[in-house]
Amino acid sequence: MNILLLGSGGREHALAWKIAQSPKLNRLFIAPGNAGTALVGTNVPLSATDFPALKAFVIEEQIDMVVVGPEDPLVKGVYDSFKQDPLVAQIPVIGPSKAGAQLEGSKEFSKGFMVRHGIPTASYKSITAETMQEGLDFMKSLKAPYVLKADGLAAGKGVLIIQDFDEAASELKNMLEGKFGDASKTVVIEEFLSGIECSVFVMTDGIDYKILPVAKDYKRVGVGDTGLNTGGMGAVSPVSFADNTFMGKVERRIIQPTIDGLNAEKIEYAGFIFLGLINVGGEPYVIEYNARMGDPETEVVMPRIQSDFVDLLEGVAAGNLKEKVLTIDPRYVVTVMLVSGGYPGQYEKGKVIEGLSHVDGSLVFHAGTVQKDEKVLTNGGRVIAVSSYGKTKQEALAQSFANAAGIHFDGVYFRSDIGFDLD
Ligand code: AMP
Ligand code: GLY
Repeated sequence: MNILLLGSGGREHALAWKIAQSPKLNRLFIAPGNAGTALVGTNVPLSATDFPALKAFVIEEQIDMVVVGPEDPLVKGVYDSFKQDPLVAQIPVIGPSKAGAQLEGSKEFSKGFMVRHGIPTASYKSITAETMQEGLDFMKSLKAPYVLKADGLAAGKGVLIIQDFDEAASELKNMLEGKFGDASKTVVIEEFLSGIECSVFVMTDGIDYKILPVAKDYKRVGVGDTGLNTGGMGAVSPVSFADNTFMGKVERRIIQPTIDGLNAEKIEYAGFIFLGLINVGGEPYVIEYNARMGDPETEVVMPRIQSDFVDLLEGVAAGNLKEKVLTIDPRYVVTVMLVSGGYPGQYEKGKVIEGLSHVDGSLVFHAGTVQKDEKVLTNGGRVIAVSSYGKTKQEALAQSFANAAGIHFDGVYFRSDIGFDLD
């Protein structure tokens, strides 16, 4: 089977690494990929959102399946674009329809969906410039801090959590006036929930589903979860508090109603559902849905999947996921992300990465890297994820930290306390 994977981050290297192990695979292409994906497949210099070019490539290279890594192509309708084109309509695209991707692409839609299907989530109000007063009244009914979310995609920056009422009121106005462009023309105001978060990944063919290993990511740049939000500085799987009791609630109250809700609303969805959950005194609530796998969570989830991943993807595509077997490695896997100095603010690219060949006993997943002649250069804020197995979380972390310390580029930084808040 020939597979085309869309995307270029650490998530895509981890997916490509896993797909490449399948005996069912013939050729793997990654568009556009990075220096790491080139080690397990062939990079193709095409944008993941250039649908006409991707379709032409699929025909030319006799691709049998397209796997979508990031949200952008999904929200822009890559699934529908293939389905509506007779030349490629029979090629399965692993990922939801444009309507399904609204679970991630529109906070207003996802909150409405949860309310329609009785899925536990923070109470909210969706506000536009015309209804700003209603928004202020709703905020007055809430306790600080105030949670303001841009409705649309805002590159992970569209959520503000503000202590002071007046500041929140003024930010609400700024957002409605276009602080995040069109994405914040509608703002969702939410009740603040207090608890510890985790990421649950579900693979679905639209009818049945499999729950992939649960992970926790570390979004803040600084030790002790301080400083600015990033795309993710590391991840741990499994998550100690996501035990059988908790996961039973997640399945009954969230996963099953989500699948049923998609069916009731006739939304085509064969792909991944990422549930960003918060544990409030033992009860799971949905903070957000994403229509894709997480990054850096995928760098710990893929290594824990023992089954043939391409076989599972075939189940998603063919609608017979129920017949497939998912086996999970009981060991811990952690990942530590090496980032560019200054990230998530301004940082420089093009720094030479050294020491990769000395890594021993860990998996190296490239995030923002590019190959130039014989050298691998930094090409983004998040640069390299170092993933390790361990019988305990501590053992896995020690391995990742030891190998991370041996990788060097100008300005390299990583968080030394990944997993600090878990047993
Ligand atoms: P989101 O993009 O919706 O995942 O929000 C980004 C982050 O903001 C989440 O990972 C949470 O840490 C935090 N957050 C979002 N919504 C809430 C909420 N209602 N209560 C508490 N924290 C929240
Ligand atoms: N790690 C969170 C995300 O992928 O959105």
